[in-house]
Amino acid sequence: MKITVIGTGYVGLVSGTCFADSGNDVTCVDIDADKVELMRSGTVPIYEPGLNHVFDRAIRENRLTFTTNLEEAFKDSEMIFLCLPTPPGADGQADLSFVLGVADELGDLFNKYPGYRVVVNKSTVPVGTADKVKEKISSKTDQEFDVVSNPEFLREGAAVEDFMKPERVIVGTQSQQAAQMMTRLYEPFVRSGNPIIVMDERSSELTKYAANAMLATKITFMNEIANICEKVGADVDNVRRGIGTDSRIGKRFLFAGIGYGGSCFPKDVQAIHYTAEQNGYNFQILDSVMKVNEDQKISIVEKMKEYYGDSLKGKTIGIWGLSFKPETDDIREAPSLYITDKLAKMGVKMKAYDPEAIDTFKKASTEETLAHMTFEENRDAVLDQVDALIICTEWNEFRRPNLDNFTKRMKTPVIFDGRNLYGLDRAAEAGLTYFSVGRRAVGV
Ligand SMILES: NC(=O)c1ccc[n+]([C@@H]2O[C@H](COP(=O)([O-])OP(=O)(O)OC[C@H]3O[C@@H](n4cnc5c(N)ncnc54)[C@H](O)[C@@H]3O)[C@@H](O)[C@H]2O)c1
Repeated sequence: MKITVIGTGYVGLVSGTCFADSGNDVTCVDIDADKVELMRSGTVPIYEPGLNHVFDRAIRENRLTFTTNLEEAFKDSEMIFLCLPTPPGADGQADLSFVLGVADELGDLFNKYPGYRVVVNKSTVPVGTADKVKEKISSKTDQEFDVVSNPEFLREGAAVEDFMKPERVIVGTQSQQAAQMMTRLYEPFVRSGNPIIVMDERSSELTKYAANAMLATKITFMNEIANICEKVGADVDNVRRGIGTDSRIGKRFLFAGIGYGGSCFPKDVQAIHYTAEQNGYNFQILDSVMKVNEDQKISIVEKMKEYYGDSLKGKTIGIWGLSFKPETDDIREAPSLYITDKLAKMGVKMKAYDPEAIDTFKKASTEETLAHMTFEENRDAVLDQVDALIICTEWNEFRRPNLDNFTKRMKTPVIFDGRNLYGLDRAAEAGLTYFSVGRRAVGV
């Protein structure tokens, strides 16, 4: 099939590349000319494990091309995927200006290059957006087309694997023709038997928000259990193992930490809360989820204030990990942004390292925060002469360091671990002062 993908971020580039890999001809469009130039020269502009390999193959076989020109991409296309940003507005509402702006342009192009096409919305969008996109296009053309909702469930860091082997594909459409085309397109990805679930557009749009809100709630619930563990002297890892074996609960998403971040959970929780409000419903549980997560992100700073008191000002603190989770360079809504901002405002100096996200962090951070920070090219250089270390992201290379390095290189071996990477006995044996989440403090 001839496919156009509009927007080449984490979702668009992965979708376009994987569609090309399964034999389709894909043209990716982006308004960012530098990014398009980079991709044309064979460079993947984001860090996503495994993407390079599939990307190179698709380009070599001439099935994946890039342009800034929407018209050029549109003219021969049969399916047009919208993979555009839907950032949160000030009131939490999803900003649809990118999606509706492109829909507006599509109307004129339908007139210029007639023929049935399916416009597929892969962005995460509020209920009713498929109707709005349809109205926008219809206001310009009477050509035949369908608008399908096809929310994306890939996880950054495992995006290629998730896209190639999705646990399910959701297709929101009431058009048989569009459903057939979508099924044909996705069949190669679900050969092991995972379902393609066809439903109406509104249910499909809500499915994506329901999934993310449920996962954010699960994480937050566990973080609250961790906070109680700290109060009553229980160990959240034991509690996790104890409840995770209950198949009704499941083992995943039960790890306590310093809150969820990223480009999806925070904005999607806000957006579904806003939709509920607009429809006269108070989604109460999500009020708590948002509030608890806000506090959780800076819970490490609170622990540091408690431990150091007024002497925190003027300390030099190392930071391991900046991205919102491992295996990505995405920094959006990462706890590291909130923690470094707070510490900078308190006059703390910081030395940080992340395997992939230093550049994105620098772009996302404020000048004030950056003025308090330096960056190192490797993990261990951060340790030299720091008063304490914060672990923000559970990159693999932070899991098994030589703990002696902490005592040898740091001024004082004090660790504030936001991801519970080390066993308490191991930390004690190594002579660390070790604070983690939902477990007793060691060496205090
Ligand atoms: N990132 C994820 O893990 C993920 C997962 C599932 C769903 N989603 C959803 O998918 C959507 C896209 O997310 P993302 O993370 O890929 O975004 P992104 O910000 O990484 O990428 C968006 C891309 O769209 C481009 N763009 C903006 N306006 C454009 C226009 N008019 N024409 C062409 N290109 C344009 C930008 O230059 C950018 O390259 C969002 O709605 C998001 O919520 C994201």
